[in-house]
Amino acid sequence: MHFSDRIQALKISPIRRLIPYADEAKAKGKKVYHLNIGQPDIKTPEEYFEAIKNFHPATVAYQPSQGIPELREAISGYYQAMGVPYEPNEVYVTCGGSEALQFVLMILCDPGDEILVPEPFYANYNTFANLALAKLRPIPTTAETGFHLPDEKIIESLITSKTRAFWVSHPCNPTGTSYTPDEVQMLCRLAKKHDIFIIADEVYREFIYETGEFMSFGSVKDALDRVIMIDSVSKRFSACGARIGCVAIKNKEFLGQVMKLCQGRLSVSAVEQVGAAALYKTPKSYLQEVNKEYKTRRDVLYKGLKAIEGTVCHEPKGAFYTMVKFPIDNSEKFIIWMLQNFDINGETTMAAPGNGFYADPNKGLDEMRIAYVLKKEDLEKALHILKNAIEAYPGRIEMIKA
Ligand SMILES: Cc1ncc(COP(=O)(O)O)c(C=O)c1O
Repeated sequence: MHFSDRIQALKISPIRRLIPYADEAKAKGKKVYHLNIGQPDIKTPEEYFEAIKNFHPATVAYQPSQGIPELREAISGYYQAMGVPYEPNEVYVTCGGSEALQFVLMILCDPGDEILVPEPFYANYNTFANLALAKLRPIPTTAETGFHLPDEKIIESLITSKTRAFWVSHPCNPTGTSYTPDEVQMLCRLAKKHDIFIIADEVYREFIYETGEFMSFGSVKDALDRVIMIDSVSKRFSACGARIGCVAIKNKEFLGQVMKLCQGRLSVSAVEQVGAAALYKTPKSYLQEVNKEYKTRRDVLYKGLKAIEGTVCHEPKGAFYTMVKFPIDNSEKFIIWMLQNFDINGETTMAAPGNGFYADPNKGLDEMRIAYVLKKEDLEKALHILKNAIEAYPGRIEMIKA
C-alpha cells in the first residue's frame, strides 16, 4: 500500500493527541476539565434554528459555488458596518475558515514556497501548509514579550525570493495576542514593499477584551488588494458545526483563482448557508454579552495562572486561548501524568502540549496552550487542580529564589 509523502508528513493534532488518556481517566470515573480544545460552550443564536426550521425546498440543489447571494450580502453588510468595504461579489463562501485557508495556500504556493507566520501558531496551519507543499517559516515570538512581533528589520530579514505571504491569526490562537495597529501597519508595509500577500485570519475578531485593542487588516486601505481576509461563523456565533466561513479580498485576479477551487468542490451546504445568513441578523447585544462572558473568563484565567509559582504568562487580549510557560520538564509528560495520577476529589484537568504549536517539535516543551471555554466556576476548579498538580508533579523544575 502506498501513501503520499504529503499525507505522511501530516501529524495528528496536538490538541486531540492526548484524548485517549482523557478517555481512560473518564472511564475510571474521573471528571476531566478540558482546557485543551477551543469548542465554545455558548448557545448558538435562535436565529439560526428558526431559519433552518423553515428550510424546505422541493429539491436540495447545488448552490452557487461562490455562495448564496443572501449570505454574501449578509457578510458584506457585516464588514461594511465595521468600515471594511468588501462588496458581496468580493466575498466567497467556504466550508469553514479551514477550507478558505486551504484554498489560499493552494493559490499562493508552488512546492517549496514559504509563508511567514508568527510562532507559536495554530497547529492546523502546519496541516494546510503541508498539503500545499509549502513551508512555514516562523517569525519567533515569546511569552516574555506577550508574543508581540519582533522588530521590522528582523521580520524583513526572513523574507526571501520564495516568500509568498505573511499569515497572521489576529487576535491570535494560540497566544491570545492582539497585534497593535503599528504591527498591523508594519506587516502591510512589508507586504507592499516585497509584493507579497497577507493572510489575515480574523475568525476571533469579536473576542477582544480591551477597547481600542483591535485593528483589522481590512482597514488598511492601501493594502486591500493584498489582504486575504479569512472569516468564519464558528466562533463568532458559537456555530462551529455549521461549517461556514469565507475568503474576501478586493482583488479580481485573486478571486478568479478562488472561483476555480469553489467550482471544483461544487457547493457549500445549502441549509447551513441559510442558517449562517440568519446568524448575521443576530442583534449586536448577543456578541456584546458573549464578549462580556469571555472577558470574565479571561480575568479568572489570568488570575489563576499568576497564582501558580514559576509560570510565565501575559494577560491575553483576545481570542480565548493563551500559551503559558510552566516550571515543568515536559508538558506532554505532565498532561499524561495529570490525567493518570492526579485528581482532587475525582476531578482533573487537561490542556494542550505547547510543542504542537511550533514548527520545530523541540520548541515549547515547557509550554501549554490553555483554552478558556469553560464557565467561570469550572475554570476556577480547573485552575485550582492545575496549580496543585504542578506543585505535586515529579518533573517540576524548582525555581531559584532571588
Ligand atoms: C486561528 C483559526 N483559524 C481558523 C480556524 C478554522 O475555523 P473553522 O474552520 O471552524 O471556520 C480556527 C478554528 O479553531 C482557528 O482557531
